[in-house]
Amino acid sequence: MKPFKVGLLGLGTVGTGVVRIVEGHQDDMKRQIGSSIEIEKILVQSKNKDRDIHIEPHKITDDPWDVIEDDNIDIIIEVMGGVELTKKYILAALEQGKHVITANKDLMAQHGHEILVKAEEYGCDVFYEASVAGGIPILRTIEEGLSSDRITKIMGIVNGTTNYILSKMSLEGASYEEVLEEAQKLGYAEADPTSDVGGFDAAYKMTILGTLGFHTYVSVEDVEIKGISEVSSDDIQYSSHLGYEIKLLGIAERQDDYIYLSVQPTLVKKSHPLANVNGVFNAVYVYGEAVGETMFYGPGAGEMPTATSVVADLIAVAKNSMLKVNGSRARTSSYKEKKLKPLN
Ligand code: NDP
Ligand code: HSE
Repeated sequence: MKPFKVGLLGLGTVGTGVVRIVEGHQDDMKRQIGSSIEIEKILVQSKNKDRDIHIEPHKITDDPWDVIEDDNIDIIIEVMGGVELTKKYILAALEQGKHVITANKDLMAQHGHEILVKAEEYGCDVFYEASVAGGIPILRTIEEGLSSDRITKIMGIVNGTTNYILSKMSLEGASYEEVLEEAQKLGYAEADPTSDVGGFDAAYKMTILGTLGFHTYVSVEDVEIKGISEVSSDDIQYSSHLGYEIKLLGIAERQDDYIYLSVQPTLVKKSHPLANVNGVFNAVYVYGEAVGETMFYGPGAGEMPTATSVVADLIAVAKNSMLKVNGSRARTSSYKEKKLKPLN
């Protein structure tokens, strides 16, 4: 069977991990999909940058249309970040009949509906597992594993950078600036880390979780947002003496026709499992009327955990292509029928 050809937009932290997993796990992937996956072309901003991965030079381009309009390419993976350009490239790729995978929460939270409607129109898959909680397969869990239940609340730590900062400040007495710099070096932070520390990255993720969990389009404007930039070392030490850890918690809750969404630093009792989620780890509680309480835990950012989710989406697209079906995540038109109202 002919190999699946992939065009990769971005070769930074996540893109590099994607190449490593696609190259390193070929045998296991072939066993699952009966065919190989090849990265045909890679879009970067600067072709001459030193990279810690070897890529054949002819595969690297700085012209997006060289990738998007390549007839040999079946699947586009977007891991470059940003909203305006990525939206333009993804819509163009879908119009060419290419399936799309993205790790971009800013984009999916703000323009997911338009992208998914376009995907439906052109019979393409759009998967975005890596956009929320890095290596934890939380979107698939909500959409598939818990699809029979009525989810009432989703709550947790969904930003790795801020959790890394808060836990290092609490456990090691490190300074905010020092740990933020470390998180940037480790590739956890966004290109503009204001998105992490300001709570916006977590708000985009809660928007996606609320949309999928409650089957209604949730807007990021409905999220009450407070980041961690005003949390001081003193706040953390006093809270600790009183038996609490400060965690940046995201909450999406529904009651009847209303939804409540927030992201804010929260005092969590040390005996609660969320207080013991440290470093770059994330944890998400999902409450369903039938299932009760469930909790999902794992690395929330970083090269290989995030790439694991991206490549899992790639395998899902390949499996769908073999079965000649499209992914459930493109079927969202019913979400428009009844919108839940934000509870202020
Ligand atoms: P990086 O900044 O490490 O990498 C971005 C890549 O995209 C680089 O290769 C860069 O090129 C390329 N790029 C950026 N802008 C352009 C442009 N205009 N034209 C062409 N190429 C461009 O980002 P990350 O890998 O950290 O993140 C990528 C996406 O994944 C973001 O949406 C982020 O939110 C998301 N994400 C990141 C996670 C993480 O842990 N880092 C986890 C989950 C999601 P060049 O190399 O030449 O500079
Ligand atoms: N900057 C994000 C975080 C990357 O720290 O959680 C993962 O989405």
